[in-house]
Parts: sequence; C-alpha cells; structure tokens
Amino acid sequence: MRFLTAGESHGPQLTGIVEGLPSQLPLSLEDINPWLKKRQGGYGRGRRMIIETDSVEFASGVRAGRTTGAPLTLVIQNTDYRNWTEIMNPAPGGEPRKKALTAARPGHADLSGGIKYAHKDLRDVLERASARETAMRVAVGAIAHKLLSFFGVQSVAYVAGMAGVWSPQPFDWSLVEQVEASPVRMTDLQTEAEVIRRIDAAKAAGDTLGGIIEARFRGVVPGLGSQMHWDQKLDGRIAQMAMSIPAIKGVEIGTGFDNAMKPGSEVHDAIYWDEARGYYRQTNRAGGTEGGMSTGEELVVRAALKPIATLMKPLPTVDVVTHAAADAARERSDTTAVPAASVILEALVGIVLAQVYLEKFGGDTLDELVERVERYKARVLAY
Ligand SMILES: Cc1cc2nc3c(=O)[nH]c(=O)nc-3n(C[C@H](O)[C@H](O)[C@H](O)COP(=O)(O)O)c2cc1C
Repeated sequence: MRFLTAGESHGPQLTGIVEGLPSQLPLSLEDINPWLKKRQGGYGRGRRMIIETDSVEFASGVRAGRTTGAPLTLVIQNTDYRNWTEIMNPAPGGEPRKKALTAARPGHADLSGGIKYAHKDLRDVLERASARETAMRVAVGAIAHKLLSFFGVQSVAYVAGMAGVWSPQPFDWSLVEQVEASPVRMTDLQTEAEVIRRIDAAKAAGDTLGGIIEARFRGVVPGLGSQMHWDQKLDGRIAQMAMSIPAIKGVEIGTGFDNAMKPGSEVHDAIYWDEARGYYRQTNRAGGTEGGMSTGEELVVRAALKPIATLMKPLPTVDVVTHAAADAARERSDTTAVPAASVILEALVGIVLAQVYLEKFGGDTLDELVERVERYKARVLAY
C-alpha cells in the first residue's frame, strides 16, 4: 500500500491517493471523519481549527460502501480557501504578491525552503510545509486502521507529559475513555487541569509549548517487518513515519532512552511460554519490536514534539529580500498541538502496520487477507 498527498494549507483542497488496498474493505466517511475531528481538537489550538470542519470525500476507489481495489482518491476541502482565493490564485501575474512573507520564521521550513526552491515569497514554502498536510495523512491512516480492525489490532494515543508536567498515571487500557474525553488527551485529571492552566499562561505570554506523546497497538502478530534488510525493519519504518510528522524531533520504541542508561539485565524482556498464550513476555521494555520485527507484545511508540515555532513575541530573524534584521512573521498559530500530534502519531503508525500486514499476507480481497492472517495466528500458537 502506498500513498501520496498534495495540497497547500490555504489552497482549495487536500488530495490523497492510496493504492494497494484490498477490495471488499467496508469503508464509509464515518470511518474517517471522527479521526479528522480528533486531529482538529485538543486544548491550545488556534483560530484556524475553528474555521475548518474537516470532512473527507471519496473521489474514486469506493462504491456502495466497499473498496473496489482501484486507487482510492480522498479530498478534504479547505474552508478557509474562500478567504485566500486571490493570494493562492495559480494564474500568472499577481505582483506584488498579497500577504507575501519575507521575514523567515525561525523553527520553520521558510529559510531552508526559500534557499532550496529559490522563493523570495516564503509563503511558497510554508503553504506546503504546514502541518495542515497531516489532515490528509490522518485520513489515509483512518483507512489503514479500518483494515487493521479486521486483524484484531486495537490502538490508542495519549499525551504522556507536556508543558513541563508528566502524567503520574501510567497508561492502562481501562483509561481509553478518560483519554478520549480529555481536552489534552492525558490519563490523569489533576495533571490535565494543571496543563490547561499552563497552556493558558503560555498563550497569555505569547509563548508556545511542546510535549511527549505515545501511541500503542495491541493484537499485532509477531514477525511483521524483517531483520533481513535495513529498509524492511519495522522499528526503522515506524521511526521514519513518526519523525515525518511536523515538529517531532525524537522517537523511541518502548522505553528506548531509559533503557540506554541501565544494565542489560534490567532491560531485556525474558521469554515465557504456556499452552494458552504461546510465547509471551512479562515485561515489554522493548516496546513490541526485536530485530526489526514485531514481537507480538504491545507496540509502544513514543515521540517528542518541540514547542510550536511561531511565537506571538517573535524571535529576531532576517528579511530575505532586504537582508535587514526583522521580527519573525506571526502567521495565525496554535499555542500547542501536542494532543493533536498524538492522534496523528496513532493514525500514521497505523499506516506502517497496514503496509507490513499487506506485505506479509498479500491478497486482492479482504477475505483472502483475513484468512491468511488467521492461519498465521494459528501457526504462531503452534510454534
Ligand atoms: C498538528 C500540528 C499543528 C501544528 N500547528 C502549528 C502552528 O499552528 N504554528 C506553528 O508554528 N507550527 C505548527 N506546527 C509545527 C510546524 O508545522 C513545524 O514545526 C514546522 O513545519 C517545521 O518543521 P519541523 O518542526 O518538523 O522541523 C504544527 C505541528 C503539528 C503536528
């Protein structure tokens, strides 16, 4: 399964094309739109997310609520486009450009992208670099999750810590509802209240915040990915996908960074077997992968999100037209996007998992795939 997205932040629409899905996968807008709503949410978002009510349309590949096996085209309209038709107009002319951005914003793609693509209006860079693109990737991820549901895979995403506060409550699957109801997607109500207070304070001070997010998957079969080649390793593929989310600057599987400071005897997960469960571990510090393959234990992906780069008290920068010192441009912006980023992480790791399931089990129809996964599960138990 491969996919491509296109579209600018303030252009008419985001487009996604997904290829390689099996036919007969039940699929409706209700499988995707709740994910888009979750991505838009979270305490600390800016005005843009009030303007948009993301919803997806199918433009190909789905008929009568099922995939046909043809490339699937997804469209998300940008409601805000109506305010930007002149600025985003593709027709020649339009000089001097309206809303041209020439003061490169530190922490953004502006300066490197301007140099690379020879733009002096840095809007040509930011429009595509914007995290708005992740709306379409989350839509693709929602489809991946629909597929994974037929293999018995369940997932969740939450915020482990943000605004300088860690949740004292370790994640437990009984807390899923609490996380889904939390405006900051945290496991502990007291921490949630403190984080909200800190977000309000940061906003009032013109500052921004980052945090640590986690996505978990249970029900994943062992042996997905491969130890054979570097680009087939599951942990490597997950890290690449996670790191491609804007503002994510650190990724770990399990307790990767903590493990690095401990002796091996306190890190590696002993292996056990019993008739009912087959092979299992009592600990999961490895986070669900060993040797580039899934172990069958819970897959735990953790990522660090830097604070939002656009500051209302802007940092010094340089105007790329005049080379004069300038204040960084203040594009409308979030105070924090940590809760939303956790949803994006969950959706996108789901894409990698769907890909490795499809690679291992193949099949043109959903039935073929499910049958092969079930046969493999029986083989794993008997091993
Ligand atoms: C869901 C989400 C929303 C974001 N919203 C903003 C925003 O409103 N303002 C901003 O400056 N950065 C925002 N970012 C982060 C920037 O897109 C990102 O930092 C920037 O494109 C530079 O890329 P890099 O941080 O990956 O190097 C957001 C990121 C995510 C994941």
